[in-house]
Amino acid sequence: MEPSSSSSSPSTSPLRRTPFSTYLFALLSFVVFLTVLYSEDLSCLFGHLGFDINASDRSIANTENEGEKLPFAIGETIKGCNLFSGKWVRDNSTRPVYQESDCPFLPPQVTCRGHGRPDKEYQYWRWQPHGCSVPSFNATLMMETLRGKRMMFVGDSLNRGQFLSMVCLLQSIIPEHAKSMHKNGSLTVFSAKDYNATIEYYWAPFLLESNADDADVHRMSDRTVRKGSINKHGRNWKGVDIMVFDTYVWWLTGLKFKILKGSFEDKVKDIEVLSTEDAYRMAMNDMLGWVDKNMDLKKTRVFFTSMSPSHNISTDWGGSPNGNCYNETTMIENPTYWGSDTRKSIMQVIGEVFGSSRVPITFLNITKLSSYRKDAHTSIYKKQLLPLTPEKRANPAGYADCWHWCLPGVQDTWNELLFTKLFYP
Ligand SMILES: *[C@@H]1O[C@H](CO)[C@@H](O)[C@H](O)[C@H]1NC(C)=O
Ligand SMILES: *[C@@H]1O[C@H](CO)[C@@H](O)[C@H](O)[C@H]1NC(C)=O
Ligand SMILES: *[C@@H]1O[C@H](CO)[C@@H](O)[C@H](O)[C@H]1NC(C)=O
Ligand SMILES: *[C@@H]1O[C@H](CO)[C@@H](O)[C@H](O)[C@H]1NC(C)=O
Ligand SMILES: *[C@@H]1O[C@H](CO)[C@@H](O)[C@H](O)[C@H]1NC(C)=O
Ligand SMILES: *[C@@H]1O[C@H](CO)[C@@H](O)[C@H](O)[C@H]1NC(C)=O
Ligand SMILES: *[C@@H]1O[C@H](CO)[C@@H](O)[C@H](O)[C@H]1NC(C)=O
Ligand SMILES: *[C@@H]1O[C@H](CO)[C@@H](O)[C@H](O)[C@H]1NC(C)=O
Repeated sequence: MEPSSSSSSPSTSPLRRTPFSTYLFALLSFVVFLTVLYSEDLSCLFGHLGFDINASDRSIANTENEGEKLPFAIGETIKGCNLFSGKWVRDNSTRPVYQESDCPFLPPQVTCRGHGRPDKEYQYWRWQPHGCSVPSFNATLMMETLRGKRMMFVGDSLNRGQFLSMVCLLQSIIPEHAKSMHKNGSLTVFSAKDYNATIEYYWAPFLLESNADDADVHRMSDRTVRKGSINKHGRNWKGVDIMVFDTYVWWLTGLKFKILKGSFEDKVKDIEVLSTEDAYRMAMNDMLGWVDKNMDLKKTRVFFTSMSPSHNISTDWGGSPNGNCYNETTMIENPTYWGSDTRKSIMQVIGEVFGSSRVPITFLNITKLSSYRKDAHTSIYKKQLLPLTPEKRANPAGYADCWHWCLPGVQDTWNELLFTKLFYP
């Protein structure tokens, strides 16, 4: 990622990166061309072209690091090892990484055992990449690195889960009196006083300005995002040292998405309707533009977490009709599984945008590894917004939350992978 692609040193980095991005872009164009031509299954095509899971990860890694040391790096992962290709292994000795009851910062939306979940198998799995190992999370190293610094998670409620997991992974080494968490509107800040460090979460479900930006009241079906508005939220992200973005689930309304061209105050609103993919592509490009303009990538790191899969439709994995993640206690064994809620077209947009960009962002491709974990969602085991009526109570699957994850759980693994990419890129 060094020299930085920020505007201060535009001459070196594009030169070094161009051949690869051009290659990737050409490859993707070719894939799209072939898809149109033969309407073949994409995964099959990727296989034919050797654009396999490993190769695609390398491609992303290469755009960020071609030999020079990244900020915070203390070592490196075995060359060519795709951290995101692997399997879950049962681990009774190191899991869970913390106990639900030991982390006082977990809100009642994620504490599944505390809300009556009877099984706890979901807490005992560790991610094992095929080609290498994930180093164990070292909270001391992470906190020393964060001394005098800010780490921020920006995005939707899935990123909030990852933020909470990070807080829990770290908080145990900080004494009671020296840690605290405060929420003010869109921003939640965990402070570690003795380290002068903060780990923050900022609610911006689309990254851009939208009509769902109220951190507490944002349930709506008619979602609109304002074009070119990333600075609305972005001004609150300046000065962050380690940034983690995500955005996905709120884009899923249908095949089309409404983009507001003027402002939300206009009496007559100027609306442009785009395909969800094009709208998403716009947001990704705006995010990269913001990073390029506002972050010094010689000193900071930026991560992007891919789409968090849901398990809302049990027929996806061959379950009974009308079911979902409710009452699921085992994971999906089929290695090629890909749920219908998880859009491949969005993943393709991410690949295209990152692949052709000179802005070095580290991609956390957690989609596939999480897609096996139908057993790990909060389901009915969380605080409900409203008291349950007897009718609701009688049909638990009807109100199960199959998007969010229990903690401790799957999102601790996302952070272990983030830890790995941060220190051993
Ligand atoms: C872990 O514990 C479970 C339940 O106690 C047991 O069934 C399983 O065999 C153990 N697995 C390993 C790898 O030790
Ligand atoms: C991915 O890489 C690992 C280790 O480098 C290797 O064992 C595995 O066969 C590769 N998978 C594919 C699909 O190429
Ligand atoms: C964790 O990191 C600290 C600080 O870098 C180091 O002193 C310690 O040895 C590490 N612990 C382990 C278990 O690697
Ligand atoms: C505390 O950290 C902030 C950055 O988050 C920095 O600007 C400030 O100088 C630090 N203060 C001290 C006393 O180190
Ligand atoms: C909360 O944020 C607002 C606007 O960012 C600010 O004016 C206010 O002082 C903050 N309140 C507290 C208690 O920090
Ligand atoms: C889950 O699936 C049900 C039934 O198909 C649907 O009514 C509901 O809107 C879905 N919920 C979410 C959050 O996707
Ligand atoms: C939950 O699953 C078990 C077996 O997997 C089944 O026996 C039981 O009836 C299910 N419970 C409900 C309420 O669906
Ligand atoms: C993320 O990983 C999945 C499965 O391993 C792969 O199909 C996809 O192409 C990867 N996405 C990108 C953008 O590399």
